[in-house]
Amino acid sequence: MTFSPEFLTTIRDRFHHADVCPVQGPRAFFENAGGSLTLKAAVERTAELMAFPDNQGRTNVASKYLMDVIADGRADMKLLLGASSGEVFIGESGTELLGRLVRNAIFAGSGSLVIGSHLEHPATYSACRRWAPIAGMTYEQVAFDTETTVVGVDQYRPALTPDLAVATIIHASPVTGMHVDVAAIAAEIRSVAPDCFIIVDGIQHAAHGKVDIDDYGIDGYVVSGYKLFSRHNFGVAWVSDRLAHAPHEQLDGAPAHVWELGTRDTSAYAAFSAVVRYLEWLGAESTDDASHLSSRELIEAAALAIRSQEQDLVDAMMWGTGGLPGLGQLDNVRVVGPENSEHRSGMVSFTIDGHNSLDVVDELNADGVRTHARKQDYYSAGVLAPLEIESCVRASASHYNTRAEVEQMLATVNRLAGS
Ligand SMILES: Cc1ncc(COP(=O)(O)O)c(C=O)c1O
Repeated sequence: MTFSPEFLTTIRDRFHHADVCPVQGPRAFFENAGGSLTLKAAVERTAELMAFPDNQGRTNVASKYLMDVIADGRADMKLLLGASSGEVFIGESGTELLGRLVRNAIFAGSGSLVIGSHLEHPATYSACRRWAPIAGMTYEQVAFDTETTVVGVDQYRPALTPDLAVATIIHASPVTGMHVDVAAIAAEIRSVAPDCFIIVDGIQHAAHGKVDIDDYGIDGYVVSGYKLFSRHNFGVAWVSDRLAHAPHEQLDGAPAHVWELGTRDTSAYAAFSAVVRYLEWLGAESTDDASHLSSRELIEAAALAIRSQEQDLVDAMMWGTGGLPGLGQLDNVRVVGPENSEHRSGMVSFTIDGHNSLDVVDELNADGVRTHARKQDYYSAGVLAPLEIESCVRASASHYNTRAEVEQMLATVNRLAGS
């Protein structure tokens, strides 16, 4: 099922700058792996709360209100992440939070080995490379399958030993656009190393599919506000009760499970709650009779609707729309990863023969289509080098994109590909 044009218009109206870049003018936004459109409600709540002069922890009514907003924000984070236990907290960014989780897990872990995969973002592997040797551990990255561009149990299994202290998993790659089976990998890890701390980078995945921490058997999960319809300058981390109670940096005397450091930015919690309310609305609108559904069920319904809408956009990118051939049909275009894959989540990366991908991104920009180039720099080399790709164009969609926008992108690609 895909959204009706009228419903899509209503959805787009809930976001800022859906059609028009505030600097460039009219444009189609296929940079959703670099960020996402921002919900108007998230901006409104941010402005409202940032204006409060009061601090938390006072007896005055304003302070109590702020603390209620924060408590609601925490509850909404656990709701969206599908976590009935553990702790959630806000940090500077996804990178900062993953670094903190990895570092503390390594020092709290028992064993001599840390593993991750070459599909990962530097946010996890940089922290593992730095802290594993300092803790006297060895760090190993398993290869991903270069055909499917996915990492799974088959790649992790040979590296597993009972001596494994920490493992990291990326939920979805911001380079290939593929999501992985976190629950299966985590179960395999636990079968060999039951006490291993498992940390998951959910930053690319969270806006494109369901997050169900209760089902994963993991110890850490991180998302970023600006990638999830909210705003920059905060990320959200969840830690299991076990990791929450492991030694970590704290104010002396704080309760053992607390990971929050210092005064909270209430506006970030409020912005996150605005995202959760939006997803509940989307879930209700996408369901025939939503009256009996719980908040969590509405969020799961939204995730399903997002997934099927994004699949339609990927199909349009791959197999064409508006009479234009798609990326999978053009002789001079090479798609990164399989054209058909159940792992693909709203994104297609590609190259055009005879064209530098950075130039293609500029051409698309000139035609009012925002994409991004991924190249072998310190962000993406880990994924692109094993694929033997120097650089590629990344077109990353979200559920609010339209087939007309895909057509606009394909018009430029068809021109450059010479068809
Ligand atoms: C998978 C993944 N992990 C980590 C990050 C870093 O997140 P942040 O920008 O919040 O530090 C990104 C950002 O692109 C990402 O896509």
